[in-house]
Amino acid sequence: MDKAQILIASNRGPVSFSITDEGSLEHRRGGGGLVSGMISVATEVDGVWVCAALSDADRRAAAESPEARLDLRYDLEGMRVHMLDIPEETLKGAYTEIANSTLWFVQHMLYDTPNKPSFGSGFRRSWEDYTAYNNAFAEALVAGAADNARVAVQDYHLALVPRVLRARRPDLRIAHFSHTPWAPPEYFRMLPDDIARDLLTGMLGADRLGFLSPRWANAFLRCCAEILRADVDLASGTVEYGGRIIRVGVHALGADEAGLRESAAEPLVGVRREMLEELVGDRKLIVRVDRTELSKNIVRGLEAYRELLRSHPEWHGRVTHLAFAYPSRGDVPEYREYTDSVLRVAKEINAEFATADWTPLVLEVNDDYPRSLASFQLADVLLVNPIRDGMNLVAKEGPVLSERDSVLVLSREAGAADELGEDALTVNPYDTVETARALHRALSMPPEERRRRRERLAEAAMALPPRRWFQDQLRSLG
Ligand code: G6P
Repeated sequence: MDKAQILIASNRGPVSFSITDEGSLEHRRGGGGLVSGMISVATEVDGVWVCAALSDADRRAAAESPEARLDLRYDLEGMRVHMLDIPEETLKGAYTEIANSTLWFVQHMLYDTPNKPSFGSGFRRSWEDYTAYNNAFAEALVAGAADNARVAVQDYHLALVPRVLRARRPDLRIAHFSHTPWAPPEYFRMLPDDIARDLLTGMLGADRLGFLSPRWANAFLRCCAEILRADVDLASGTVEYGGRIIRVGVHALGADEAGLRESAAEPLVGVRREMLEELVGDRKLIVRVDRTELSKNIVRGLEAYRELLRSHPEWHGRVTHLAFAYPSRGDVPEYREYTDSVLRVAKEINAEFATADWTPLVLEVNDDYPRSLASFQLADVLLVNPIRDGMNLVAKEGPVLSERDSVLVLSREAGAADELGEDALTVNPYDTVETARALHRALSMPPEERRRRRERLAEAAMALPPRRWFQDQLRSLG
């Protein structure tokens, strides 16, 4: 295959496949914040995006590729996609057990610590899978990279790749970018010592490390100082390790205005919008759009809405809460339990307040991107209340598409609060009374103030388009 000058590597790629009723393959855009953020880059960069085949349909697509069984080369307006067919068991250990059930929990500080985690022999076996999976990515990058190529490795799934790549191809210029928060050393060190070190030294194989917020960069630097005893300069963001100096930078990521507007102009968005308008009528509309994900704090968001209805009966019959909670990571038991809690609380709220002509809460669990975009246009209030979040693009996309000057109620624990905190109503995500008060204030806010805040939010949200974010990363590699 042609060697590339620019390579991206991420677990989930920009396309995913499914099998139609007629048995043929169809493809669509991959999901999640990482892909949403980076997809606009892929249409402009001439290079290769290496990702994993994540489903049977992806695997079949990889197998039907005219190339070798391991490679699927798929054209995505500019970038070639190279899908790795990693053995299913290895993928399960690496993705479900380590990335989703361990690293995600650590970085978002989600463990219910009296019970979990417990790192036994099963975990060790999964760690071997994680290592093998990282090696498979590194192999593909070694084979696909031209001399002195630049490689942008993404996220916690691929923390070991930079070290392996550097050992195999010292000519490459390597960046690693984390799209999640990073946990402070007091929490991160609950991982077994050798594994905590493996992760940190794996990433330090890069020339540049990137994070979405100074908070996460700082926590990473502190982990390097305390766990590796590396020489760290917090002020300049550098780590001296293994005779090299690694720079740690912050590159916040904003909404892709052009891409969003183009998607919002699709006829299906108009169809969904009419449906929602009919559903909501002249009531005020509170919207949330999330994957059903422990860190997104959907249950407390619903409890805050219940608290609003209890403490402000004047809103009865005058407000609708549309909560989109799309399926995510159903292989992880905690996610299935969490989805049940979301459904239970939603039911309780309607049981307590619904009347013959008013449904206070409409919870939708089927993923529908056009409907999400239509809800951004119509929202009076957008609720984004994660416990912790690397950035949160919903908080940025909502104000860009809003046509009713929606007020943003935003958790101070989202990376997005760095840029939007001044003009959003920021809340402590654990405090449902404070969140309910913020919802009330948002619903009652005078039009002039809403407009002013929304304009500034949109401006801040668009200030760092993904294209620039990616170019900054490449430029930082020289
Ligand atoms: C979110 C996070 C990313 C992560 C992605 C993975 O978007 O912000 O850091 O890479 O989820 O989602 P997945 O569905 O692939 O597990």
